[in-house]
Amino acid sequence: MSLEITIKQIEHSRIFSFDSKNIIFGKVFTDHMFICDFQNGEWQNLRIEPFGKISLSPTLSALHYGQAIFEGMKAFKNEEGEVAFFRPLENHKRLNKTAERMCMPQLPEEIFMEGLQLLVDLDKDWIPSSAGSSLYIRPFMFATDDFLGVKQSETYSFMVYACPVNSYYSHNLKVRIEETYTRASKGGVGAAKCAGNYAAAMYPTMLAQQAGFDQVLWTDGETHSFIEETGTSNVFVITKDAVYTPELTDSLLAGITRKSILTLLEDMGKPIIQKHISITELIDWHTRGQLTEMFVSGTAAVITNIELFSYRGINYAVNASENLLSTELKNMFNDIKMLRIPDKNNWMTHLKTSQTVNS
Ligand code: COI
Repeated sequence: MSLEITIKQIEHSRIFSFDSKNIIFGKVFTDHMFICDFQNGEWQNLRIEPFGKISLSPTLSALHYGQAIFEGMKAFKNEEGEVAFFRPLENHKRLNKTAERMCMPQLPEEIFMEGLQLLVDLDKDWIPSSAGSSLYIRPFMFATDDFLGVKQSETYSFMVYACPVNSYYSHNLKVRIEETYTRASKGGVGAAKCAGNYAAAMYPTMLAQQAGFDQVLWTDGETHSFIEETGTSNVFVITKDAVYTPELTDSLLAGITRKSILTLLEDMGKPIIQKHISITELIDWHTRGQLTEMFVSGTAAVITNIELFSYRGINYAVNASENLLSTELKNMFNDIKMLRIPDKNNWMTHLKTSQTVNS
């Protein structure tokens, strides 16, 4: 079944002012956005509009009580001009999982996928094809009731916008293991991709940055003795024996890049251990010369090496330049995303072009 999506196209594209050789992450947005509204128990008024400001009431419940969730995903364009999305159905699944936790409505897969396809088809000229670049796509949902009082909203908007990007991090990371502040605790919303998780991380991240680090490496909320994730990505620790990553709990985000890395590692025959990783054993691996590499993974961060971690004022340097497993993984991802090798895991969804314009 094809959905009815109204399209209002821009009159003059802004693409001529876009410098694809000098992209700053998150600063430039494509010409259009997708919107639909949840009212009377159903999603309606599906539409594409010129990208621009939206009008909101000061009483909008998302602004006060925080029902605001999002996803991050990417589309790629290869040298031949073919465009494909990386694992969009995984983002759709995770959006709905987050929505459930935040007491928000489920979004049908068809709306998610058709909105995405139409938007990216209209704005495909914005997708950069140089090495490491892509179209970052931001689907998000927020509560729109005009009501002062704590209760789940009855109305919501779902929107998607996109921006051409390069790497989120342009250098290796220095991370500080956090013991004072907590990102998420048992039974909380750490596994949900909700706006509040990022807000709660900002103050401790600012303190870490003022002390010369790039990111916080969060620890569990109960004991602060097991590493969990950074504010923007999952984390991997490579030793001479195995690849370790914190096992998924309700306090960390189930990254789609994380999941994909695990599949690639499995295909490579690498021993993988998903478990609680204590700070004590991390330092022990480092001290015994067992720790060979650490990296973070995420849609925006892709795979970025950690060159140093710090714990209780002591800095531990980590190899981030030679014989890296992360380089091998990055190359494999690039080949898959740029459609250079067979997509044996069915990760890439091709862009459907020439959609019908309804108005
Ligand atoms: C992503 O990786 O897509 C995120 O949402 C994190 C943010 C650093 C952009």
